[in-house]
Amino acid sequence: MMFPVPQTPAVSVAVHDQVALITIDNPPVNALGPEVVNGLSKAIDEVGRDPSVRAAVIVGAGRTFIAGADIKGLEQMAWGSSTGLPEMHDILQRMEDLPKPLVIAMHGTALGGGLEVAMAGHYRVAVLDAQMGQPEVNLGIIPGAEGTQRLPRLVGMEKAIEMCVSGKPVKASDALAAGLIDRIIEGDLATGALAFAREMAGRGGPYPKTRDRSDRLPSRDGLPAILAAGRALATKTRRHMEAPLAVVDALEAAATLPFDDGCLKERDVFMRCVNGDQAKALIHAFFAERGTARVPGITKDTPVAKVASVGIVGAGTMGGGIAMACANAGMTVRLTDATTKALDAGMATIKKNYDVSVARGRFTPAMVEERLGRIRPQVGYEGFGDVDLVVEAVFENLALKKQVASALNDAARLDCLLATNTSTLNIDEIAAAAKRPATMLGLHFFSPANVMRLVEIVRGAATSSESVATALAVAKKLGKVGVVVGNCPGFVGNRMMFPYMYEAQFLVEDGATPEQVDRALTDFGMAMGIFAVDDMAGVDIAWRVRQELKQFSEPGARKPLVADALCELGRFGQKTGKGWYKYGDDRKPMPDPEVQALIERVTSSAGITRRTFQANEIIERTIYALINEGARVLDEGFALRAADIDVIYITGYGFPAWRGGPMFYADRVGLKTVYERVSAFHREFGDRWTPAPLLERLAREGKTFQAMDRGASELAAPRA
Ligand code: 3HC
Ligand code: NAI
Repeated sequence: MMFPVPQTPAVSVAVHDQVALITIDNPPVNALGPEVVNGLSKAIDEVGRDPSVRAAVIVGAGRTFIAGADIKGLEQMAWGSSTGLPEMHDILQRMEDLPKPLVIAMHGTALGGGLEVAMAGHYRVAVLDAQMGQPEVNLGIIPGAEGTQRLPRLVGMEKAIEMCVSGKPVKASDALAAGLIDRIIEGDLATGALAFAREMAGRGGPYPKTRDRSDRLPSRDGLPAILAAGRALATKTRRHMEAPLAVVDALEAAATLPFDDGCLKERDVFMRCVNGDQAKALIHAFFAERGTARVPGITKDTPVAKVASVGIVGAGTMGGGIAMACANAGMTVRLTDATTKALDAGMATIKKNYDVSVARGRFTPAMVEERLGRIRPQVGYEGFGDVDLVVEAVFENLALKKQVASALNDAARLDCLLATNTSTLNIDEIAAAAKRPATMLGLHFFSPANVMRLVEIVRGAATSSESVATALAVAKKLGKVGVVVGNCPGFVGNRMMFPYMYEAQFLVEDGATPEQVDRALTDFGMAMGIFAVDDMAGVDIAWRVRQELKQFSEPGARKPLVADALCELGRFGQKTGKGWYKYGDDRKPMPDPEVQALIERVTSSAGITRRTFQANEIIERTIYALINEGARVLDEGFALRAADIDVIYITGYGFPAWRGGPMFYADRVGLKTVYERVSAFHREFGDRWTPAPLLERLAREGKTFQAMDRGASELAAPRA
């Protein structure tokens, strides 16, 4: 006999002592898909019709209130396979027109369409740790459910611009101060909200409709300056992005047009944005980031070890940053170094970095004290038998790393996860020294490790699925994005960066200037130019690597001459005050005529004919070098998906998210076009431009990296 399976409706209504509690239950984040929208519509009708109901409350089930429109639906719109959002105007209007008080009760994150629903209620309440925001610009779109028309009516135009342009959520306490919510509820949210609704019903109507308010909108005289400041903010802080500027156009309409006309203007701007390239790229980046957690062999049943305490070996640049990241996430840290002197220097840097955070208002002195209290500096491995994870961050030297791994083998518990932060060395060789390869992997943090979101999780030949799953959980706990990669020299990110960086250096030898190349790259959207990056990381790092790599000793291989010459002069970059650029106290790169003279001298004695370059050629030679190597990495299986490479480049290397990452960008340019240019460079420059076989194949078959990923993800194991 078959039993009917009980279905939890996306929206349900229960009446508690004459107040209706409307619950939205659409896991994981109550996104506004069609079921929620239809359910909400019916619930509003029901509440309106029932004379015994005096008031209503809308609340979200599970971890959060509504976290926005369903981004899967937006993705379909962006790619033209659906034409519109679920119709919200009518529902929002009916909510506002209810003759009984409607209270929205928020917890978790009320974002995007979630906040837009909330603003159509008569009152809003929230628990203290709730957050509210309009993050749409981060997806390349603008609020599309009348948020641009209601938000400025509640919080004023300046605050609305700040929230919509930055996309950053505000805390409940700030929302209360700004007028976005009416009360903070202590204790159980639904109980408090029901009581609040009863209180409002007792006061009697009419109940406030956001759309009728104009008291917080700026005067006609004041408006131009506010809008100009908003547009300047968008241009400065969200460089190259279209949506942050576009959202100001929609917000402007709130102050210049009647409400309904303002909503039409919002719709126009929304449609323009969602149909644009940036929305496609940013939505891709959103799902790519979440997709990194899907790793073959790891299921939701894979055991994940609890990591509450960490031992860090090496208190230098990386060890100190990793210690801060762990302490910030609430973990206790034992930080060890070889000498008291090095340890003291490391702790002094940590304190200095925390002082900067206090000066910038990111942390209070009390928060810093608490965090510092979690970091215990020590020489030696005392207490390492109690920690759940060890991250080794000593000098990049294989013999030293093996020695430390062997010492950790004695010091750490058998089930402790051992990680090395090496950026180039072979994880398996280090794991062999630790004699417990199943619990050993690479955790490749990026500098500054307390800030940068990327961690490459390097899986060795014998690393267990449990260890990888635990590493993914650690990355998440640290607020970072863990991307599982294979064990090849440079792993994924740095392996791809070398051809990119060398191509930039060859361009300079062939006639461009470092500042011209950097300018082309930052105009393309890179956070920094490659020469500024090289100066920051240390020009000598690649120089030392170069001395060990055989690729430059192969016949016909082109060796970077100017980079070597800079290093021979001790111009190692920022740390020596001079590199590709020269630096003053403000650490801003300044073109240096001495470098130009050096370039000319070195290239002339090597017989290189110099010529001028246009920006597009610079971009093709650098970015296509990155893509070609990315295709190789993917084909060889060192990255699981092209989208993982995109995440690595967006979160670790300053690649513009609005271009979706290098592989997505290649798809947009067209793999045939990229392949043809790579082939032309191959004919001109030889082997270093050999087209990656995967690029060649996809170009020939008229396919994309994205389509290839989709095929792969069908085979991939369920999410961890
Ligand atoms: N639509 C569809 N799926 C969503 C979603 C959304 N709005 N928000 C989150 N998800 C999914 C994620 O893809 C993920 O799915 P998976 O488990 O299958 O990978 C799952 O929910 C959990 O997400 P996270 O891993 O990100 O969970 P966190 O707890 O770390 O973060 C969050 C939760 C803060 C809500 C974060 O997911 C987030 O920022 N989401 C996006 C919020 C957003 O941008 N909202 C605006 C949407 S656009 C909009 O509303 C347009 C409107 O104006 C009309
Ligand atoms: P660093 O030189 O700043 O720090 C290394 C620290 O290790 C020093 O404080 C040193 O005293 C200590 N140390 C040396 N031998 C030790 C031992 N036997 N026991 C305990 N401590 C010891 O180096 P950095 O830059 O922090 O690099 C560390 C590791 O991180 C390297 O493997 C490097 O390749 C990697 N890495 C570096 C990045 C960077 O941007 N600096 C980025 C990503 C990875």
